[in-house]
This record gives sequence, structure tokens and C-alpha cells, in this order.
Amino acid sequence: MARFIDELKRTHHNGQLRAADEKKSVVLFGWVASHRDHGGLVFVDLRDREGITQLVFDPAAVVLKKQGLLPQDSAEAQSAHTLAQSLRSEWVIGVRGFVLGREGNKNDKIDTGEIEVHVVELTVFNRSETPPFEIADAIDTSEEKRLEYRYLDLRRAPLQKTLRVRHRINQVTRRYFDESGFLELETPVMVKYTPGGARNFLVPSRMHLGKFYALAESPQLFKQLYMVAGFEKYFQIVKCFRDEDLRLDRQLEFTQIDVEMSFINQDDVFRVMEGLVVRIWREILGVDLTALYPGGRFPRMPFEESMSKYGNDKPDLRFGLEHADLTGVIIEQGGGGVPFWKAIADKFTSGQYRRDLPQEIVKALRVPRDLAAKMSRAEVEKLEDFVKGMGAKGLARAKIDAEGNWVQSPLAKMITPEARRAINAHLGVQDGDLVVFQFGRASMVQTVMANLRLHLGKKLGLIPESGHGGLWNLLWVVDPPLFEYDEDRKGWVAAHHAFTRPHDDCVALLDTDPGKVLCWRYDLVLNGFELGGGSIRLHDPDVQAKVFRALGISDDEARAKFGFLLDALKFGAPPHGGIALGMDRLAMLLSGAESLRDVIPFPKTQKGTDLMTDAPNVAAPAQLDELAIRVVEQT
Ligand code: AMO
Repeated sequence: MARFIDELKRTHHNGQLRAADEKKSVVLFGWVASHRDHGGLVFVDLRDREGITQLVFDPAAVVLKKQGLLPQDSAEAQSAHTLAQSLRSEWVIGVRGFVLGREGNKNDKIDTGEIEVHVVELTVFNRSETPPFEIADAIDTSEEKRLEYRYLDLRRAPLQKTLRVRHRINQVTRRYFDESGFLELETPVMVKYTPGGARNFLVPSRMHLGKFYALAESPQLFKQLYMVAGFEKYFQIVKCFRDEDLRLDRQLEFTQIDVEMSFINQDDVFRVMEGLVVRIWREILGVDLTALYPGGRFPRMPFEESMSKYGNDKPDLRFGLEHADLTGVIIEQGGGGVPFWKAIADKFTSGQYRRDLPQEIVKALRVPRDLAAKMSRAEVEKLEDFVKGMGAKGLARAKIDAEGNWVQSPLAKMITPEARRAINAHLGVQDGDLVVFQFGRASMVQTVMANLRLHLGKKLGLIPESGHGGLWNLLWVVDPPLFEYDEDRKGWVAAHHAFTRPHDDCVALLDTDPGKVLCWRYDLVLNGFELGGGSIRLHDPDVQAKVFRALGISDDEARAKFGFLLDALKFGAPPHGGIALGMDRLAMLLSGAESLRDVIPFPKTQKGTDLMTDAPNVAAPAQLDELAIRVVEQT
């Protein structure tokens, strides 16, 4: 029988021992974080998931003998010392020894810095090859290398800490929903493909050759079926799969905190989710959000206002630099002498403009003079490169002088004095301000200006490059349009999904002016990230039929696509609605991490690959034969 583990059980973990434990006999296990041979004495930092303890190997055990912890003639510590000389980084060891105070060389940087353990017995459980990078808090190893050896990367304290945060979020969430009467219910991962959501992964069926399951991109339809089944309050911490292009805040598989409730309205959903967020912040960060948001209620902003002031539906309100929509002023001014603007204005005034066609707009962003003064002319010019990288043709700009003239501006020669005065008044400009303009197709202008605002916010030091900077800006974005115009399909498509309930006073517009129909959909935004989204669902078959009509979906098509849900809604569906929070984004924002990859234990790269296991990989011919699948070589 092995002496360590079987006989000698671990007494403490490596973050635990303090001065009060002095003279205790202890058994510790862990990894060699560092080792130093100081002429006779060997020092080892022993690491486990809880921390680091300094070990001392003294062949003569001088201090232990002096303290009366070992007999004067003991040779017990000798073989431990000999073995310790061969230790290397990341070897896995067990030790037995005595806790002693560190006279005169306390280490404030670690929790156990008051003590050290003088070892009398050592065992090596396992050796380690030299790791490809140092297991230390701050390393500059490439992310590729870290992902290839993710199990070593995960050994590092920052990732250990982050995964603990995830664990805590899971526990707090489960406790919160359980206490609030929610049932944690599961939904299938392999489902029928239904169109409308994100792109699905397909799974071939061996038993039904030529047929496919889809991996669930969310439990959406099933959680609604739970409501039809009368469960009333559902939640799940659930994996979702989406075959999307990856970004810093997107992964192919990710986790949602998914919620659905019956007999509720939008405000009821908000209260439940605000309660969860307040609780997570209090229990995990010790931050009281009710001090920022009285009663724990988060502010709300209509979608339209968010688009107009910030260019997207997830504004980062930690700083100002709001956009101004100049389209109205430009139309009033007949284009104000600027040819591009005139073309936009003419379309409106000549009646060519139609609400159901892509709009063209003019937007400006005013950088107040104290901030504008921080940027050199060359830096201002670089902003143009930044927007061109997003497909913009350029970035018109103007510096404002004491008389309200536009200087250093390509527009200066064209703009009429009246138009300039009207725009100046609209923007509230002052001497020294910088104004940048973007005009053209609305979707492009909004994206460019939204990204430019964030870029400026970071460049001017108003928000950190990444992380929260100690600021928590939570916001509900509400009342968006139910439909959006699809420029490719030249028709209306559901902005979210076809089962979102329109506002009652908009139902009449479904037939006449679909673009104006607002709905009960909402997003929860934190520091400029979409943390979650949901909606109140359509449970009324008559309104549902109208929505399908507005989308140009025939009854037969609706049946083919969503038959089982439509059937279910006929059998007494209660009014219901819900939401899903992105758990990975929550962990990322809470811990100030830069990317989702930093909070997911085994993430995929930007290209969707797993560098450690080398997935995805080719399937063996026999596997493909069994599934009757042939791979077509891409040329
Ligand atoms: P939605 O598609 O808005 O809603 O997703 C909800 C939240 O999930 C997170 N999320 C992601 N996180 C990481 N990687 C991704 N690829 C990814 N996609 C989404 C975001 C997002 O806000 N069924 C509806 C919810 C409902 O209506 O109740 C849904 O899935 O944080």
C-alpha cells in the first residue's frame, strides 16, 4: 500500500496554512511551481488549485530539531532532501512536514506567506516533461500555443479563478431560480431543423439515411412547449450550437441561462432577470447594483432612440459621444450644397423615398473640444482609415472655429452658410469641437458610426480597451420593430423570430405598414455587449396568422416549418414569454476578460477549430459509408 494518499491523507490545501498553524504536522499534495537549491537547503513552491505553500528541505532538519519537533539524532529529513534535489517544474509530489513561521522573510504576495513547511518525507507521484510555457500568472505565450496545451494553460491561476467564477454563477443561478419557483427542465440537443434562427449544425442519421437532425441553436420552441404543458416557470443552464462566424463574443457552442414564464408581461420578466443579475453581482463581486439602480430596476431605452443616438441596439453608456441624426436637417436644407446630401434630400422631397426600401441617412458625431484637443491632425486623419476598414468610402470631418466656420474640412467649400448654421445649432457646437460625418445607406452608416464611437471612446480613454473599468452599465433596449427589411430578399423578415408578440396597438398595422409594427422584444445590454435577449410570445392564432401573412409565409409553408408548435398553440397555450442570458458573455464581462475564449475551458479558435484535439477532422471512409455520405472535394 502506498504510504501517501492511502495512509497519509492530505491535511491542508496549499492556500490554507497561517501563523496560527505553527508546529502542526501536515501533509500537502500538489505541483512543483518552482524549486531553488540554495547550497544545502532546497526550497520548493508547491501549488494546488487553492494556492502556493513554500516547502523547505533541510537534510539536517536543524530548525525542526531546535524546536523539538524531531529528535536530535533523527536522520528522517535526509532522503527527502536528496530526492528534492531532483525535483523539476510541474512534477506532482506529496510531502509530510511541520509548519514553521518564516522569520524575517515573510512573503506578502501569497496568502500563506507567514509560514513555510519543513519537509521530513517526500514522494514523487509523477514527473513532468518541461512544459511548453511557464505556468505563471502573466505569460506572453501565443494564444495558439496556450490552446494547444489548454490543460496546462488551465493550470494557471487566472484561468483557475475565471472557471471558479463560472462555477459560482452556476450555483447562484440555480439557487435563485429554485427559490423563485422555477423548475430546471431539460430540452433535447438533437432536434428538427426549423428555419429562422441562427444557422444550425446538422447531424446525419444512421438509422434514417439521408436525413438529418439539427443541433439546437437554443431551446426556444421546447421551452414554449413546456409552457403549453403547464410548467409555468422554466429555467435551464444549457449548451446551444450555432454555425456562425466567430467574434470575440461568439463561440460555436456556448451556454445560455434560459428562462420562460407563463402569465407574465415584459415587466415581470425584467424583474426576475434584474433580481438574478443583482444577486450575481452581490454574491460574486460584492458589488451592490441597487446603489446604482434604485430598487434594482435597470433603465430602459426604446430601440429607435438607441439606433439614433448610438447606431446599434447595444449601446455602451459608460461614455457620451452620442450620434446626431442630421437627415431631417439635410432634407430641410435641400442638401445644403453638398452633392451627396442633395441626392438624399431629393429622394425624400420627390416622393421616391419609401419606408420599405433601404434608407439613406446622414449622421454626425461631435467630439467636444477638450477631447478633440487630445488628437493630433494625423490621428484625426487615421480615423478615416479606421472607417474605410469597415467598408465606408471616407469620413468627412470639420473642425469648428470661434465663428462657427468649418475648417480643415472637405465640406467647407460646398456647405451653404444656412446649412452650416442649422447643423451647428443641431449639434450645439463650440469653438474647437471636431465633427465627423457619415452618410449613405442606413445600415452601413449605423455600423460605421457605432464602431467609430467605440473606437473614439477607447482612444480618448473614456473606456478601457477591454474590461469593465469598474463601471457597470446595464440597460434594457425595448420596443424594437417586429420586422426588418431584407435587402436581398426584397421583403420583410422577422427581426427576431416569427413568434414574438406585437404591441396590441400595432396589430392593425400588420396588414398596412409592417415596418411600423413594434413588438415585445427586449435585450439586456451590459457595457455595450448584448448580455441577453427575449420576448413575449405570440399565443393568439389570429395574430399569428397575420404575422405570417406580413412575412409572406403561406399557411402550408408555416405548417411545414413550424407545424408542431402551431398545433401546440391551438391546445390552450397560456400567455408566456422569456429570455436567455449568454452565460459565457456574463462570465467574460464579470471577470473583465477580453474574449469568450478566456472564460470557456475548452474553446474553439476564431476559425472554429480546437487546437488541442484537432477538431474538426476528416471522417473515416467506413464512417461515411455507414451514413451514406460522400465528401465532395473542394477545388
Ligand atoms: P438570442 O439568440 O438573443 O436569444 O441569444 C441569447 C443570448 O445568448 C448569447 N449568445 C451567444 N453567446 C456566445 N456565442 C454565441 N454564438 C451566441 N449567440 C447568442 C448572447 C445572447 O444575448 N431563444 C432566444 C431567447 C428567448 O427569446 O427567450 C435566444 O436564443 O448573450
